[in-house]
Amino acid sequence: MPQAVENIRALNFDLREIAEMAAATPNCIRADLGRINYPVDHRFQQMMQRQIKRETFDYAPTYGIPELIETLHAFDRPQLRRYHTPATLITSGGQAALYATFKTWLNPGDAILTDVAAYPPYGRIARLLDATLEQRHLRKIQSSDLPPKIKILLINHPNNPTGQIYPPSTLQHWATMARQNDWLVVEDAVYDRMYYDDTPPESMASFCPERTLIIQSASKNLALPGIRIGWIHGEESHIRQVAKVHRNMNSCPNTFFQNTLAIYLPQAEEYIRTLRREMKRRRDALHDVLVRQGWPVTPPEGAIYLWADIPGKVPSASFVQSMIREAGISAMPGSLFGDFEHKVRFCFGALTLKDIHLFEERLKSFVYV
Ligand SMILES: Cc1ncc(COP(=O)(O)O)c(C=O)c1O
Repeated sequence: MPQAVENIRALNFDLREIAEMAAATPNCIRADLGRINYPVDHRFQQMMQRQIKRETFDYAPTYGIPELIETLHAFDRPQLRRYHTPATLITSGGQAALYATFKTWLNPGDAILTDVAAYPPYGRIARLLDATLEQRHLRKIQSSDLPPKIKILLINHPNNPTGQIYPPSTLQHWATMARQNDWLVVEDAVYDRMYYDDTPPESMASFCPERTLIIQSASKNLALPGIRIGWIHGEESHIRQVAKVHRNMNSCPNTFFQNTLAIYLPQAEEYIRTLRREMKRRRDALHDVLVRQGWPVTPPEGAIYLWADIPGKVPSASFVQSMIREAGISAMPGSLFGDFEHKVRFCFGALTLKDIHLFEERLKSFVYV
């Protein structure tokens, strides 16, 4: 059997297995999948109603609807300022953006270098492309420690699962390494509006624009995962190549939502601020609960997760299964994100303050069996 087909057969739905177990447990408090549960902006709803009357549902151009691209250039202006010839490709969500980008740059046997804790689909996409994901302590990395097949440096911040935001000096260091080693830099910035002290994360494109592609999405920053709209910013010469792959994966992303976003985005900032405030409230509430219940955890700087050490250092997958079964609380086992057998990731994005209160009651009486 060809290697690519074998890689598909060998892959499992690991994130989904926990989610399905949680979904099948009545009244489970769902802190497993990366989701935000928050009312959609009423202006977005009004704009959808207006748009539906004039929508023609035709195919969109290869790069996406020009009005949306223009709007995105204003929306993400600070990230784009260093590009020589900035271009943008609209994709079917962040996931398709990642897949198309990796496919454009990787040959079988190549590798992606990323931080030690990483969003599980990175490794799975790499495997589908017969490539590998190298998870290392990036802050300590030296060029001499690295395997030669690295083609992509993948930076995700605010990070899923750790919530870390990397300081500009670290980004500068990685940009220098990327130049020395001739890596493409992929910045997964899908949480870049979810930061909790007043400074937004800096972009790798500020330090090495000539080799950086920025992946974005409406799923987290705008709390609209179901519309499946993502985008990639980069130099035109790079975007042109990724567009060839994406075009042959998805003839074009959903035109109704491209059109609606194009008119909505200029008015989205107030909603984003409100959403960020609410996420911060949920982060603080869940953090305080965990600390009160004896969990060592620090509040994340961004994103929607608490990355916590399991008290007693028991294996993460069986701990989470037990917590779902016995306490009706779900989470994601740390082992899905790398070599983190004694950690779990709690997503606070979908938990109301009432859920968090109930979470504490249940956690208090939970005994791992
Ligand atoms: C780090 C990261 N990147 C990309 C994505 C993909 O987002 P989407 O495909 O919903 O745009 C997610 C979703 O959870 C994520 O956490």
